[in-house]
Amino acid sequence: MVEIPNVSWDDIGGYDEIKQKLKEAVEWPIKHPQAFSRMGIRPPQGILLYGPPGCSKTLLAKAIASQSKLNFIPVKGPELFNKYVGESERAVREIFRKARAASPAVIFFVSFLAFFCKAPESYSRTRTKLMHWPPREGRAMMVPVCTIAC
Ligand SMILES: Nc1ncnc2c1ncn2[C@@H]1O[C@H](COP(=O)(O)OP(=O)(O)OP(=O)(O)O)[C@@H](O)[C@H]1O
Ligand SMILES: [Mg+2]
Repeated sequence: MVEIPNVSWDDIGGYDEIKQKLKEAVEWPIKHPQAFSRMGIRPPQGILLYGPPGCSKTLLAKAIASQSKLNFIPVKGPELFNKYVGESERAVREIFRKARAASPAVIFFVSFLAFFCKAPESYSRTRTKLMHWPPREGRAMMVPVCTIAC
């Protein structure tokens, strides 16, 4: 489940501005935490990459993990759904526990939008609860873990 991908920035054509933004949002807070606290800057809690299929979302997430030497934990949105009460939340908790153990790490939620926007209505309560989970879990974390979703 945890890997360090092997994707270099040069493997991805174009997107210079996005590459730079990813470095600033993910790598800088992990490498220079004292500078951030000295200047009173709160690093982003999570990043949403969006765009049509094949536009490099996965490649970019892998490149930032690979180039910043962060463990990469891919999670498919639908894997989190469970019909039993409390089990979906438990699955999210477990992912963050693993990320903490493997920190510094990037958790990459794949198909996040499809999962949260198009899930069956019967799951709506679970979905609403889960939508508030990852950020809160992330904020509570004292170790460097970044969440990227697409
Ligand atoms: N900027 C790029 N430079 C070079 N190759 C690219 C680039 N963008 C995409 N590709 C090629 O297209 C493939 C698919 O890209 P990627 O998996 O990053 O897309 P995606 O946005 O995650 O798509 P999906 O929404 O279907 O998950 C890559 O494995 C790579 O071979
Ligand atoms: Mg992808």
